Parts: sequence; structure tokens; C-alpha cells
Amino acid sequence: MSARRLAKEQPDSFALSAASKKEIGIWIKKYPKGRQASALIPGLWIVQKQAGGWLPAPALEAVAAHLDMPYMRVYEVATFYTMFNLAPVGEHHVQLCGTTPCWLRGAGDLKKVCEKKIGPKGSVSADGKFSWIEVECLGACANAPMIQISNAAGDDYYEDLDVDNFETLLDDLAAGRKVKPGPQNTRHTSEPITGAVTLNTKGFYNKVKQKKLPNSGKAKVGAK
Ligand code: FES
Repeated sequence: MSARRLAKEQPDSFALSAASKKEIGIWIKKYPKGRQASALIPGLWIVQKQAGGWLPAPALEAVAAHLDMPYMRVYEVATFYTMFNLAPVGEHHVQLCGTTPCWLRGAGDLKKVCEKKIGPKGSVSADGKFSWIEVECLGACANAPMIQISNAAGDDYYEDLDVDNFETLLDDLAAGRKVKPGPQNTRHTSEPITGAVTLNTKGFYNKVKQKKLPNSGKAKVGAK
């Protein structure tokens, strides 16, 4: 991964909203008194959402001040993790997994789709609708190749991609059509493509006997 730098063009100022402060406060409370810096990663994530999907330098300064920690510590974290965007992103920010399992399953072809439909890596499309970056494993290797898309709807995974269904997905998003997160083929989750082969005995769960807990009227699910 190449060095990540802050965007050349920066806003003059940034102020944490009351909603961001409230949300960050929930995280600060999870740690011992005086350890508010431990809330840095969720704090940056919250502020990135407030700032429209990226972290301008004044936002990093605002987070540093709010958590009472040196700006450099905040800068180090924001420039290390690819979940933090250091320049403006498109309405739909595509994070393409390029790690080995996804690569072996066709991430290279998906990369070409991104270049064709969006532009060079790290750029925002001319209409402002899309941007894309390459990221490391997102933990959904069983459904490789996959991407995450961050937008107003959330940060959803789209899996089991190929050139055709990925192009369709981007076209649907561009046209404002509803899209379905998860596998983009016939799989429901990560079962074999030919169908589930375990835990699929018909009526299995109906045969599990209900055992009564001692001194309670509540039933406990047991194997016998
Ligand atoms: S390698 Fe792509 S999700 Fe793990």
C-alpha cells in the first residue's frame, strides 16, 4: 500500500456537530477516566460521516482537541487505516478487496470495471456519483471477490461478483435503483453454490425436544 497523504485542498475550518459529540461521548464512556483517546477510531469514523465521507485536516484537529490528544497521534491513525478517507469521495464509495482470495477469484477484472466506469484509483467520477479504492481483506473471503460500498444507505458488502453483475450493480446505483447487498449470484449466504449440504434435514428442528428448567416454567432447548 502506498503512503496516504491528506488532500491538497482543505476547508478552512471544521466543527464537531452536537450529534457527533454525543455519539463520541458514548464511546468515551466505555473507557476508564482519562483514557478518552481510546475512542479515537470510532471518533474518526463518526466525524468522517459528519464530514460527508472523508476527513479534512481541520476535522482531524477537531477530533484531537475533543479527545485531548496530540494532532500527530490522530494523523497517524487516520493515515494508516484505509477505512478513513483523506480526500473527498463520491456518493457511492467503492472499496474493492484486492487481497489473495479475492484476487484469485477475479478482483483484477473488477478493478478494470472500476477503471472503466469510475476512473483511476482514488479519483471521483465526473458526475460525483462514484469513487473507488483498493483495500485489504474485508473478511468475506468465502464470498470472493467482493467489495464494500459506503453511501447514505450504509456500508454494505456486495459479494460473489463477476464483471457482469458488478457492472449491473454500478449501473443500478447510478440510476438510483434499489440494490440488494450480499451475494450477487444465487447464493443466500456462503453455502456451496449447488446448495446447502449440512443442517438441512427436513423437520430437524421440529424434533428437538423441549426440556423444562428446574424451578421454572421456561423451556430449554435440548438435544434429547
Ligand atoms: S480476501 Fe477479499 S474478503 Fe478476504
